[in-house]
Amino acid sequence: MIDLNWTSSGPNQVVLGDNLSVLPCLPDASFRMIYVDPPFNTGRIQSRQSLKTFRSETGRRIGFKGLGYDTIKGRLSSYDDSFEDYWEFLEPRLVHAHRLLSQDGTLYLHLDYREVHYAKVMLDALFGRDCFLNEIIWAYDYGARSKSRWPAKHDNILVYVKDPSRYYFNSVEVDREPYMAPGLVTPEKVAAGKLPTDVWWHTIVSPTGKEKTGYATQKPVGILRRMVQASTQEGDWVLDFFAGSGTLGAAAEELGRKFLLIDKSPDAFEVMTTRFSLGRESRRTELVSPNLEAAGE
Ligand SMILES: C[S@@+](CC[C@H](N)C(=O)[O-])C[C@H]1O[C@@H](n2cnc3c(N)ncnc32)[C@H](O)[C@@H]1O
Repeated sequence: MIDLNWTSSGPNQVVLGDNLSVLPCLPDASFRMIYVDPPFNTGRIQSRQSLKTFRSETGRRIGFKGLGYDTIKGRLSSYDDSFEDYWEFLEPRLVHAHRLLSQDGTLYLHLDYREVHYAKVMLDALFGRDCFLNEIIWAYDYGARSKSRWPAKHDNILVYVKDPSRYYFNSVEVDREPYMAPGLVTPEKVAAGKLPTDVWWHTIVSPTGKEKTGYATQKPVGILRRMVQASTQEGDWVLDFFAGSGTLGAAAEELGRKFLLIDKSPDAFEVMTTRFSLGRESRRTELVSPNLEAAGE
């Protein structure tokens, strides 16, 4: 096993490595919040593995209309290669995410409309349906508009808690937003702004703005800030193991939380080490294995 040398009393860390080699080195229940924004195209050669379909009668793995989760997974796999490939890539990593969350912790899984329904089925099985908290829609308005269907201008973020009776959620700390019709509410309410709902209108990272790191899939820090404000307290640890440009780290740093960021792309690692001022002990590069898959985004 890799000696990552991470402890909760240590400094922020940025790690260059395949997350599936790094995650097993981390102790259980270490993070109050995990945010991940995985790539859809994993860059893997598709290898078809036949899956047995069987009905699971026990506990949490019961899904839609009482069908066992494994049956649903088997049926999806039997006609959709990309589901199978995606599942095989993501499932073991999400099992670690569940293990690494503290008992009152929260997972934010950032996806798009093509993946989110499969992932909901996965996470219901891994966490339990009662642990599903929200589906956040991040709506933006940028780029070309299709004329042959409704232009898709949103991402989906699934929110799961480890324990629905104990999770931490602090709506008071969340950045508020302007009322759409300020004339209809009191001046005090206008001044305070309103609590965001599960639909977040937020611009993408401006190609010319100062937030831009140059990393193609960078997400705006404004949406990460809300998640960190709601689901963590000062001093808590947050984890992103598909970290890219390290946007979760930027929100965490601003809000006094500690971060561990993992990415297998040397470009991402370089962007993150430039974005944060980190001591030597915070940059771990020895985990790169020579036969890493090409970074897929
Ligand atoms: C969509 S990007 C994340 C962008 C990030 N949220 C941000 O704001 O910059 C997905 C990242 O996952 C990384 N990645 C893909 N497979 C990985 C793996 N097996 N281990 C670690 N990182 C991986 C890619 O290198 C890429 O940087």
